[in-house]
Amino acid sequence: RTVYVNGDYLPETEAKVSIFDRAFLMADGVYEVTSVLGGKLIDFEGHAKRLQRSLDELDMPSPCTMDELLEIHRELVKINEIDEGMVYLQVTRGAPDDRDFVFPDPELVKPTLVLFTQNKPGLADNPVAKKGIKVISIEDVRWGRRDIKTVQLLYPSMGKMMAKKAGADDAWMVEDGFVTEGTSNNAYFIKGNKIVTRALSNDILHGITRAAVLRFAKESQMEVEERNFTIEEAQQADEAFITSASTFVMPVVEIDGVSLGGGVPGPRAARLREIYLEESR
Ligand code: PDD
Repeated sequence: RTVYVNGDYLPETEAKVSIFDRAFLMADGVYEVTSVLGGKLIDFEGHAKRLQRSLDELDMPSPCTMDELLEIHRELVKINEIDEGMVYLQVTRGAPDDRDFVFPDPELVKPTLVLFTQNKPGLADNPVAKKGIKVISIEDVRWGRRDIKTVQLLYPSMGKMMAKKAGADDAWMVEDGFVTEGTSNNAYFIKGNKIVTRALSNDILHGITRAAVLRFAKESQMEVEERNFTIEEAQQADEAFITSASTFVMPVVEIDGVSLGGGVPGPRAARLREIYLEESR
């Protein structure tokens, strides 16, 4: 596979970053995952805008313009012949000469930019979407700026491991009694004709897929309510689902051992997935 590092397209075995890179030492980096369907980038503009916002919020310099980023994305998709899959992008505050908590002078230390592709044939026609997934709830112990897409992914990784141990597929995180989001996705339930999901704030990532799916839901005459909800309320719903760039719309059929809709994906989540895939392609 060919990857991109700071201006160069290289075989992955030749790509190098410094051990002093601040993302390696301090998780001082941000990232984006953009999916590819039929060789086409899905919602690149949304991802680019959120990346710019993450950079601004952390006072991190941009490595290049968003147009240049789009070019690099397209080039990698082409070189690696990605039909279905994704492009991972990471920007870090760069590699100073030494370990230091204080941010380096941006004139002296340039950001690190890394991109690579992941080939995932069958991403759209994912058999898991026909079965749905099981989630457990765990406490949300992450920091208070989850709206910034940083590479601090240790707790989400631990959450996925907790889910795996419990025989589930993923975890929904709960703070002060209310669901924030999934470990790497936004969380929703459907009751009647209404979709409920947590409102945007610093408590959750502002999902690019979330924005698109809520727009499509409203266009299909579904009601959308953005508010706090509990695990108990979601367990009593007709359907539940998650969204992310890598799963699109994925039905949830079990929450903490309680089955929803007889344990099979409901019609509305399945329809939202269809609409999302149709509209994005
Ligand atoms: N995760 N919430 C969290 C905590 C996430 O990590 C993600 C994305 C989302 C969904 O955002 P979007 O719809 O823009 O992908 C919500 C990516 C896919 C990942 O870490 O692989």
